[in-house]
Amino acid sequence: MSKRQYLVAGNWKMNGSTASNRSLVEGIVAGAGDCPKVEILVCPPSVYLCPVAALLGGGVRLGAQNLADQDKPGAYTGEIHGTMLREAGCDYVLVGHSERRALYGESDAVVAAKFGVAQALDLVPVLCLGETLAERDAEQTEAVLARQLDAVLDRSGVHAFARAVIAYEPVWAIGTGRTASTAQAQEAHAFIRGRLAALDATIAGSVRILYGGSVKPDNARELFAGVDVDGGLIGGASLKSQDFMAICAAAQAQ
Ligand code: 13P
Repeated sequence: MSKRQYLVAGNWKMNGSTASNRSLVEGIVAGAGDCPKVEILVCPPSVYLCPVAALLGGGVRLGAQNLADQDKPGAYTGEIHGTMLREAGCDYVLVGHSERRALYGESDAVVAAKFGVAQALDLVPVLCLGETLAERDAEQTEAVLARQLDAVLDRSGVHAFARAVIAYEPVWAIGTGRTASTAQAQEAHAFIRGRLAALDATIAGSVRILYGGSVKPDNARELFAGVDVDGGLIGGASLKSQDFMAICAAAQAQ
């Protein structure tokens, strides 16, 4: 079976401005044609989704970083409903990023609810999973990944993963400059895929699992070589078009 299509996603987190977004997007759009094998996604802060959508044109996809866990719009001050993200031009939405879990108290149950709402509204959820350093040191990595994945499986079922992406992001590698080794990433990805395969081998074989955590132009090629690694979720390096496109080129070269 040929490998799944690579996806390289930029999570801009709470960064950017009208001026910096413009030059970043211009650089991405200019380089996207050199990476025809790779699906490219950018996830700006929500206030910039519409202007970024207008700059993107057709080739590069748009995603949000978060959505409300509510089925319907209504009196939820400060929240953004998935229909609004669709209207802004989003195809994807990140769900359960470790910063949302750790800093904003998102439990496995909330993450699972957001995953379900996203799918019901025709957004593709990018489900982020990953262990902390203490959990890795305590040899709890697989238990944590299983718990985080099972919360979504229990609520939405394995078939939901026919229209979803998973991102393995070890918390200790995010923004630290410390990257998982190719073997560590591949091992975690294989575990996640194996857990899905126990339920449905076809869906497990088709779901894309991205690696995230200090992916840079100089390590992307090696990380993306893992047989179960289908691209990356990029933080810091997605804010410089040259670096982001070099990472896309590393996926293209696989
Ligand atoms: P860094 O690439 O800055 O480590 O961030 C990774 C990340 O959290 C992407 O969602």
